[in-house]
Amino acid sequence: MNVVRARAVACGHFLPERIVTNDELAERIDTSDEWIRTRTGIHQRHIAAEGETTSDLAVAAARDALDRGGFESSDIDAIVLATATPDYTFPSTATRVQNALGMRAGFAFDLHAVCAGFIYALANANGMIVSGMARRVMVVGSETFSRILDWNDRATCVLFGDGAGAVILEAAEGDGSPADRGILGTCLHSDGAYHDILYVSGGPSTTRQAGYVQMAGREVFRHAVVKLAEVADEVMEKVGVTSAEVDWIVPHQANLRIIESTAKKAGVSMNKVVVTVQDHGNTSAASIPLALSIAVQDERIQPGNLLLMEAIGGGLAWGSALLRW
Ligand code: ACO
Repeated sequence: MNVVRARAVACGHFLPERIVTNDELAERIDTSDEWIRTRTGIHQRHIAAEGETTSDLAVAAARDALDRGGFESSDIDAIVLATATPDYTFPSTATRVQNALGMRAGFAFDLHAVCAGFIYALANANGMIVSGMARRVMVVGSETFSRILDWNDRATCVLFGDGAGAVILEAAEGDGSPADRGILGTCLHSDGAYHDILYVSGGPSTTRQAGYVQMAGREVFRHAVVKLAEVADEVMEKVGVTSAEVDWIVPHQANLRIIESTAKKAGVSMNKVVVTVQDHGNTSAASIPLALSIAVQDERIQPGNLLLMEAIGGGLAWGSALLRW
C-alpha cells in the first residue's frame, strides 16, 4: 500500500564558539573534572556569547542543513522549532528564524517539551507532512540553557550547554513497511504530576522573570532510565522491528549513564549508540539533532540506517521515534 512518509533529506548543527571545560568550572564552584566526568560523561560545554540568542544558533544550524541539502529557504513550507529558552516571551523564536532565513512564505512556530522537544517537534512535523499540510518542514532544536542556569548551583550548572541542530523532512512515497525511508513511528508521553522534580523557577505568568533550572537529580535519573526503556520498546513494537534491526540509537544527550542504561535495556551495544554528550553537555531540545548531524557528517550514519531516538525532560515529557535515514 502506498503511503506518504516524512523523509529526512538533510541536517545541520551549530555550537557557539566559546568552550567551557570542567576544570574551568572547578575554578569557580566546588566541583571537579573527575566528579562531572564520572557522574555524567560530560567533558565540556559550549556557551553562547553575550547577545548570541537561541534564534542565532537556530539560524546557523538551519543554514547548515539548507546548504548540505542544496535547498533555499524558499523551499521550506514550515519551521517547527523546539526550545525551552526562546529569545522573547513572544513572538515565537521560529518566526525570528523564518525572517533571518529570508523565508517570506509558509509558517513557523515554537514547540515546548523541554528535553523531549525535538521528538515532539519531529512527531508534529511528521503529522503535518503525512496529512498534506506541508511538503517540506524544517525541524529545529535550539537552546541557550546557559541563560536559565544558576551558575552557583553545582548540582545543575555543570550539566547543560548551548547549541542547535536542524533536520529537513520532505514528503516521499513509501510502501508502508519498515523498509521505507523516513519516519516510521513516534510515541509521545507526558505526566504533569512530576512538575516539581524538574522545572524552572519563573515565567511570564508567575514571576514575570525567566527563573533558574531546579532539579531533583536522582529522581529525574530514576524516571529517565525506566521511561526511556519503555518508550524505546513501545515504538519498536508499534513499527514492528526488533532492537537487532536498529543500526544506531541517537539518544537525548543528557548523561552517559542514562544513555548506557537505555542501550543495555534495549539490548543494543554501545558501539551502535551515538554519544556526543562529552563535547557539549545537555543541550535539551538541541541534543538529538546535534548528535544526529555530527554522526551524519562523520559518516557513521549511512542512508538506509534505522535510527532509534528517545528523550525525556521537564514535564515530565518523554518520547521516541524510529527513522530510517
Ligand atoms: N560537583 C561535585 N559534587 C556534586 C556536584 C558537583 N557538580 N553536584 C552534586 N554534588 C554532590 C552532592 O552535593 C552530593 O553530596 P553529599 O553526598 O555530600 O550530599 C553528592 O554529590 C551526590 O549527589 P547526588 O545528586 O546524589 O549525585 P548523583 O550520583 O545522583 O548524580 C546527577 C547527580 C549527575 C545530577 C544525576 O542524578 C543525574 O544525572 N540525574 C539526571 C539529571 C539529568 O540528566 N537532568 C537533565 C535534565 S532531564 C534530562 O535531560 C534527562
